[in-house]
Amino acid sequence: MPKQSVKSIIKSKNRTKLTMITAYDYLFAKLFDGEADIILVGDSLNMSFGGQKDTLNVTLDVMLYHTNAVCKGAPGSFVVCDMPFGTYTDKKSALDNAIRVYQETPADAIKVEGGADKADLIREITGNGIAVMGHIGLLPQFFRSEGYAIKGKDDIDATRLIADAKAVEAAGAFAIVIEGVKADVAEKITKAVNIPTIGIGAGNGTDGQVLVWSDMLGFFEDFKPKFVRQYLKGADAVKQAVRQYREDIQSGSFPSENESY
Ligand code: KIV
Repeated sequence: MPKQSVKSIIKSKNRTKLTMITAYDYLFAKLFDGEADIILVGDSLNMSFGGQKDTLNVTLDVMLYHTNAVCKGAPGSFVVCDMPFGTYTDKKSALDNAIRVYQETPADAIKVEGGADKADLIREITGNGIAVMGHIGLLPQFFRSEGYAIKGKDDIDATRLIADAKAVEAAGAFAIVIEGVKADVAEKITKAVNIPTIGIGAGNGTDGQVLVWSDMLGFFEDFKPKFVRQYLKGADAVKQAVRQYREDIQSGSFPSENESY
């Protein structure tokens, strides 16, 4: 699969559904390279990788470290770096921090959470040559004020979400993540904009899908959200392998002669 670009991602709308997956390190990025259209270095790494209870306290320095690792592992992939909470509160900080991503990593784009309220910030960043992926609907960075509730449950919210998507598009974003939105509303949003939408917990009517790698590969065991499909029983496979390793050590069958110098 050739590496995607901002242009080819926009062109894919109404042609090919986009596959996006998160990655946080070199090893898994290398496995995903060439298998997905977009790799997202999501701030979900603060929970999935860092063991924290939410995404709020991840820093830009940490995101830059992981983005560099992912870019090294996946040189053939379009890589997006999530901007952490608090790094795009005004035009100046948003642009300064977005510039850090472009200057300190080879990432292809950044992602920011928010709708019409963030349009001015997005315009400031895209106007300075940095590609932005939007993110509307359920916004994990704003859960303390907004909660984790599914969005688009009534007409007023649906109208607001469509306005959010249009504002983010008008500000120059090349794609929009739609998270935790009723499927029929996500489909309406998708039809209302000319850039691709990428859904997570937003049904089948978007232009693409994204899942967190540790959820879809079955490594995260604490709970399985309804929208996740597990393509591997990763945790079971790893535990079984480590159990076997221990048994082989205890029985004396590892290392064998072939595995010795
Ligand atoms: O941080 C993340 O992994 C994300 C995806 C869930 C879209 O923002």
